[in-house]
Amino acid sequence: MKVLVIGGAGYIGSHAVYELIRAGHEVVVIDNLSTGLKDFVHPKAKFYWGDIRRKRDLTSVMQAEAPIDVVMHFAAKLIVPESMTQPLQYYENNVEGVRTMLEAMVDCGIKNVVFSSTAAVYGKPENGICNEQTPCSPINPYGETKLASEKLIKWVAAAHGLNYCIFRYFNVAGADESLEIGLKKDQLTHLIPIVMQAVLGVREKVVVFGDDYDTPDGTCVRDYIHVSDLARAHVLGAAHLVETGESLLCNLGSNNGFSVKEVIEATERIAPVPWVMGPRREGDPDFLVAENALAKKILGWEPQKSLDDILRSDYAYRVKLLEEAGVR
Ligand code: UFG
Repeated sequence: MKVLVIGGAGYIGSHAVYELIRAGHEVVVIDNLSTGLKDFVHPKAKFYWGDIRRKRDLTSVMQAEAPIDVVMHFAAKLIVPESMTQPLQYYENNVEGVRTMLEAMVDCGIKNVVFSSTAAVYGKPENGICNEQTPCSPINPYGETKLASEKLIKWVAAAHGLNYCIFRYFNVAGADESLEIGLKKDQLTHLIPIVMQAVLGVREKVVVFGDDYDTPDGTCVRDYIHVSDLARAHVLGAAHLVETGESLLCNLGSNNGFSVKEVIEATERIAPVPWVMGPRREGDPDFLVAENALAKKILGWEPQKSLDDILRSDYAYRVKLLEEAGVR
């Protein structure tokens, strides 16, 4: 397949590119490098600078690289608290970006799209275990923009004969086994990299956001998935579209939940974690775990990596970053 990856220099997009290239596919990347890094683009992928909100940036690449079999979309803003204070930016980048991408695909006759959605579309589901029929009721602009994009994709697919594969990600973490790419940001907000920074002395401690939730130990439960497992699902999803022409929407998670305290305890098998209990963070659901049977049934996909693998992988990546910076 020839795959155009929009946002292929970012955290998840770059991992998808690595897995596509390992599977022998041809890859073209468009990225505006607003959060992505040029160094993260696999050397065998062809890179174009471009912004998803500017149709000409997309159509010029789609025409130059024709025929493209599949477009993969990763070029989204994804920080929940930021979306609460910057909803206009989130709608512009995430929804208008998808609309522009779809228009470019229709103009250029590209039929298949793989789209990154999120568990945030479910909001605070009643029993916390989500299958794809669980009602969607986002509680923040980030989740709303992803749900709006999903609906837009479905309508455009029906009108213009596109095929889509929409993946709802749960809590993604870890780094590629090469350690060439990983989650590299100045301002981290996600639990696992924050825990690893505390282990490595990059930050003083982890603040656990509340222990009065309706869960066995009172801290929030999430479904953690290794970024390379997630990336592999994209390769399978793209192949499924090309081979069958059948659209698909499914969760990418592990069927397993771990509380914040359990993540810390598991990390302590690697090294001690300095942590303190703090107040709740706004907008956190108590329990959010994926049922992943549909991805297994249709794509033959299930995660291969455990929570321990994810933790060790993120730890190894953060050690490598410190070594590169000469502080370890
Ligand atoms: N947490 C802490 N301390 C921290 C950071 C996080 O206790 O310093 C807790 C959070 O309160 C939460 C859990 O760790 O209970 C996981 O938090 P993350 O920020 O790592 O992840 P979220 O579950 O908030 O968000 C993830 C994705 C989002 C997606 C969401 C779906 O990152 O993109 O799941 O619910 F929208």
